[in-house]
Amino acid sequence: MLLFDHVSKSFGDLRAVDDLSFELEAGEVFGLLGPNGAGKTTAINMAVGLLEPDEGVVRFAGETFDRDPREAENRQALGLAPQSIALYEEISSADNLRFFGRLHGLKGPDLEERVSACLDFADLTDVRKKSVSKYSGGMKRRLNLAVAIVHDPDLVLLDEPTVGVDPQSRNAIFDRVEQLRDDGKQIVYTTHYMEEAQRLCDRVAIMDRGRLMALDTVRALIEAHGGPGKLAVQTGDKESIHDTTDPLGTLAQLQERETVEHFQYRPPDLETVFLNLTGRALRD
Ligand SMILES: Nc1ncnc2c1ncn2[C@@H]1O[C@H](COP(=O)(O)OP(=O)(O)O)[C@@H](O)[C@H]1O
Ligand SMILES: [Mg+2]
Repeated sequence: MLLFDHVSKSFGDLRAVDDLSFELEAGEVFGLLGPNGAGKTTAINMAVGLLEPDEGVVRFAGETFDRDPREAENRQALGLAPQSIALYEEISSADNLRFFGRLHGLKGPDLEERVSACLDFADLTDVRKKSVSKYSGGMKRRLNLAVAIVHDPDLVLLDEPTVGVDPQSRNAIFDRVEQLRDDGKQIVYTTHYMEEAQRLCDRVAIMDRGRLMALDTVRALIEAHGGPGKLAVQTGDKESIHDTTDPLGTLAQLQERETVEHFQYRPPDLETVFLNLTGRALRD
């Protein structure tokens, strides 16, 4: 459905996206994971035709956005929730949804039906008549997400949809993204939160400095690049940490020699994968 074929994009001397290739498989939730500045937003903007690649080709449903992207008919099948919230602050959430719905050609009872479904989805029905300027950051993020799906697109691109809100709102937004996944939407999800990518995505592309470092299922990424886990063991008044891929075996060996009072095992995760691939922590 969405194909990046050796795509690069520079801003001046800076290569924001460097030779990026991937293809979305049918029905999958695809993650773009990387720290700030990795090139995620630049990639998303090329995916929807807002930016043009310097090199390589982006195809959506087999087509390119060569001409005026707004003219492309297949744009109807795309929904974007941009990283920087794009809403009209002076009008209500219902009117925002109506406005964006009309842009996508909805009208009459069909439009009203979608507006009310999206308000419901975003849990904003009670405040639908209030001006968006009065909303909290979390409410704006939820509306930003609802606007992306007002025309019921097949593919939804969510650019850091949980960024900049408190943990509770983050959870509320994340629940809604999971609901979209469970409703069978195809999703491209960018984040710098490894636990979100791990929980949500079928496959994850790890990006750093514009480059694709690895692309696979979470499980396969961890198997290939995670290395050993950490087993922390307390014996008597001594604590030791052991690198191991076989925590039960290591524990059994230790127990032959000493009495283990406590232990804790931390398996490798995407954070470890990123560290092993780049030599740097994902969050810095
Ligand atoms: N319009 C722009 N002009 C100049 N530099 C840009 C522009 N957009 C992005 N960049 C730079 O490109 C790099 C990648 O940015 P971005 O795609 O926003 O990364 P991410 O979304 O992963 O944080 C960053 O170094 C950023 O500063
Ligand atoms: Mg970004």
